[in-house]
Amino acid sequence: MKFREMSESDLVMVLDVERNAYEYPWTEGNFNDCLSGNYEIWLLESKGRVIGHGVISVAVGEAHLLNICVAQSCHSQGIGRFILRYLIERSRTLDATVMFLEVRESNLPALALYQSEGYEKIGLRKNYYPTVVGREHAIVMSLKLLGV
Ligand SMILES: CC(C)(COP(=O)(O)OP(=O)(O)OC[C@H]1O[C@@H](n2cnc3c(N)ncnc32)[C@H](O)[C@@H]1OP(=O)(O)O)[C@@H](O)C(=O)NCCC(=O)NCCS
Repeated sequence: MKFREMSESDLVMVLDVERNAYEYPWTEGNFNDCLSGNYEIWLLESKGRVIGHGVISVAVGEAHLLNICVAQSCHSQGIGRFILRYLIERSRTLDATVMFLEVRESNLPALALYQSEGYEKIGLRKNYYPTVVGREHAIVMSLKLLGV
């Protein structure tokens, strides 16, 4: 398995992974904004196939995890944790001392993953995300990157 940065030519593959993995996938517009902005989009490839991706933004000592997603067929095999740890290390390399993220309160797999990696709940954005039937809260989490 190897990591590489995403380019525009990966868009179709990455959108396919998103749409199959998740009820609330990122759109083409979301990825295009990140590709043209100050973000890093990392893909994990196995045998020439993209099996997951993650998006971070790092500036003035703060890292933000914008997205992490694993292909449906590869769930529960440790791939999400592997990508998350890579993004944490990448953030450290870029001199971040803290990492923030937001997660839907209904997203129990993601919450469990973040908590098991040491992220702590630091806040709640009420009715932040749209859902099929209304809205739901976002849990804001952080991870200190110093001194590890
Ligand atoms: C969240 C996601 C990235 C986890 O990836 P994964 O490769 O399936 O997860 P891993 O196999 O690395 O599991 C790591 C930990 O996550 C948690 N986890 C993963 N799947 C879970 C599930 N179905 N139920 C509960 N916890 C789960 C567990 O704590 C697990 O640790 P364990 O194996 O020691 O129990 C994956 O489910 C996904 O792509 N979801 C769709 C996109 C998404 O929700 N992204 C997060 C947006 S904030």
